Amino acid sequence: MDISHATALVTGANRGIGRALAVELLARGAKVYAAARRPETVDLPGVEVLALDVTDPAAVADAARAAADVDLLVNNAGITTGATLLGDLDGVRAELDVNFWGTLSMVRAFAPVLAANGGGAVVNIASALSWFAFPGAGAYAVSKAANWNMSNALRLELAGQGTLVTSVHLGAADTDMMKDYDGPKIDPAEVARRTLDGVAAGDLEVVADEWSAMIKASLAKDPREFYGQFLGN
Ligand SMILES: NC(=O)c1ccc[n+]([C@@H]2O[C@H](COP(=O)([O-])OP(=O)(O)OC[C@H]3O[C@@H](n4cnc5c(N)ncnc54)[C@H](OP(=O)(O)O)[C@@H]3O)[C@@H](O)[C@H]2O)c1
Repeated sequence: MDISHATALVTGANRGIGRALAVELLARGAKVYAAARRPETVDLPGVEVLALDVTDPAAVADAARAAADVDLLVNNAGITTGATLLGDLDGVRAELDVNFWGTLSMVRAFAPVLAANGGGAVVNIASALSWFAFPGAGAYAVSKAANWNMSNALRLELAGQGTLVTSVHLGAADTDMMKDYDGPKIDPAEVARRTLDGVAAGDLEVVADEWSAMIKASLAKDPREFYGQFLGN
C-alpha cells in the first residue's frame, strides 16, 4: 500500500500509540481522520477529527458514513483494567468490549468502505500478550489473543475484496498505559514507523519489539519453559 496516497482513520488518536500513528501518517503524506472518545483532546493540526467510542455501534456507523473515503483503518483504541479471569467480571467484559468487540465492530462497519475504495488495509494493534498470559493481566491477554486471531480470520474473510489485514505486536511502549512499568519501553513513534513500514510492504504481522519476538519464538517450545517461572517448577 502507498501510504502517501492513503486516507487513514486511527482510533484512539488523541494520545499514546494512536497519536504517534496519526503523526507518522501525516508525515508520510496520508489524509488522517483522528478518532477519539473526547475529540477536544486531539491536538494535531492537519487531521479531520471524529468523535468515536468504538463500543458505541451508532457512533461507529456514523464514522463509517463520515469517513467514506478511508482505505486504511487503524484499530488502535484499547484498554487494560488489570482484571483477572477469576476476579472482577465487569473488567473482563470491558476489555473484551473495547479490544475485541470494538475492533470487530469497526471492521464490520468499514469493510464496505474499504471495498469501495479499492480494498485497502486494516491494522489491528494487538500485543505480545496475544501470545502469552501474565499474572494480573488475564483479561487483557484473552482480549488480545482474540484480537490477534480475529485478524487472521478477517484476513481470510476480506481477501476477496483485496483488503490487507495486519496485526501489530509489542511488549511495552512508553505511553500512559504503561506509566507504572519500569522495564524497557519502545518509543510509540518507533511503533508507528514499524507499523506503517509493515503495511507499506504488505506484511501480515508486525513484530515491533524484541519482547514480542522473544514471546513469539517461545511458542514453539514446551510451555513449561516460559510458565515454569510463575509456577515454581
Ligand atoms: N503501551 C503498551 O505498552 C502497549 C503494548 C501492547 C499493546 N498496546 C496496545 O496499543 C494500543 C494503544 O495503547 P496505548 O499504549 O497508546 O494506550 P493509552 O495511552 O492508554 O491510550 C489508549 C487509547 O485508546 C483510547 N480508547 C480507549 N477506549 C476507547 C473506546 N471505547 N473508544 C475509543 N477509544 C478508546 C483512549 O482514549 P481516551 O483518551 O478517551 O481514554 C486512548 O486514546 C492499545 O490497543 C493497547 O492495548 C499497548
